[in-house]
Amino acid sequence: MLGLVGLGLAGCGTRARSQPMTEPARPPGDGLADLARAHGISFGTAVQGELLAQDQVYAAAVAAEAQLLVPEWEAKWEALQPREGEFDFGPLGVVAGFAQAQRKQLRGHALVWHNAMPDWLAPALAEGPARARAVLAAHIEGVLGATQPLIRDWDVVNEVLANPPGSRFTDQTPARGIFRDTPWLRALGPDYIELALRLARERDRTLRLTINDYGLEGDTPWAEQKRQNMLALVRALLAARCPLDAVGLQAHLQVDEPFRPEPLAGFIQTLHGMGLAVLITELDCREGANLPPGQEARDGIVAAYVQQVVGTALAAGCRTVLTWGLSDRDSWLNRDPDVARRDGQQHRGHPLDAEFRRKAMWQALARSFASA
Ligand code: G3I
Repeated sequence: MLGLVGLGLAGCGTRARSQPMTEPARPPGDGLADLARAHGISFGTAVQGELLAQDQVYAAAVAAEAQLLVPEWEAKWEALQPREGEFDFGPLGVVAGFAQAQRKQLRGHALVWHNAMPDWLAPALAEGPARARAVLAAHIEGVLGATQPLIRDWDVVNEVLANPPGSRFTDQTPARGIFRDTPWLRALGPDYIELALRLARERDRTLRLTINDYGLEGDTPWAEQKRQNMLALVRALLAARCPLDAVGLQAHLQVDEPFRPEPLAGFIQTLHGMGLAVLITELDCREGANLPPGQEARDGIVAAYVQQVVGTALAAGCRTVLTWGLSDRDSWLNRDPDVARRDGQQHRGHPLDAEFRRKAMWQALARSFASA
């Protein structure tokens, strides 16, 4: 298997898993990553390999604004192991090649998730726990073996918690206790989470292992319940001496969701007290049902909400912030029918507009970094 090492990426080095990878020295610019770095913060964004390869404006914006990249799709099971036993590192190699050429860091997303599963996977998991364990172990072995020099930080498990009753999210998936009912849970019970983390640690002892989820930021009863559920899960894992280094807050924000700093700050500080890092992993911001007149007013509302949330997280000790894309043009917010606007308008929830011009959210992030 010609993994990413075949791209000559070996030797990217390893480092203590609790610390972000040291960034290569580079001439200071005025991008968000430069502004963040000046305050000890790592900033980055999700990227699409095809756009990196085909769209120079897109690639230039990523090069100028971001230091830490996360593949939006190319490191998911569907992309990496489309058929059982057949690994395809081609799409990830495009992102990796860009990261190497531009001297960027790369984080992995996601080793275990209930979406982006290739067609063969759910039936395999349904064959029973022994098969499920073998499939999981083979994937983690194959992926970490090929990406070890390149990716030092993975979302090992993604969105394992159910959305509590009353949640604002459309995917009211059935729950089993605090856990989302997924093919993984049905095959292995909640232990799949610990199993994935242990397999990842055994394969790569210096990898930073992250649990990533959404709906953890707001000041609502269901966000508070989901935060308590995350804390219960983390406490149980740590009590079982399960390897875990960080919790990722996806931060897919919505301006209509109430926010108060204290609940989020307390949550982050509690996780820090357990010895865990906290990252913002997928920041973007959906606009409200009723848009104010004028683009400037819309952008101002998004910027103010983002600055409140990111400023709170940074003040509580978060030191890694990634947006889920830089520009409104390529955002899942305007592709995914579950979140796209019904009024035909495009969400403006990213630092750059559809023409890759910096807008109020870009300034809000810059201000948040400067006051961290
Ligand atoms: O399937 C094609 C594949 O054949 C093709 O080679 C590839 C190259 O472009 O594209 C694939 O298409 C789509 C892919 O995005 C790349 O754009 C997939 O059909 C589509 O399902 C996939 O959607 C992604 C989704 O996760 C599912 O993986 C979205 O872009 C991405 O924004 C979204 O991101 C998730 C996070 O992983 C987890 N948190 C929520 C977030 C938003 O849903």
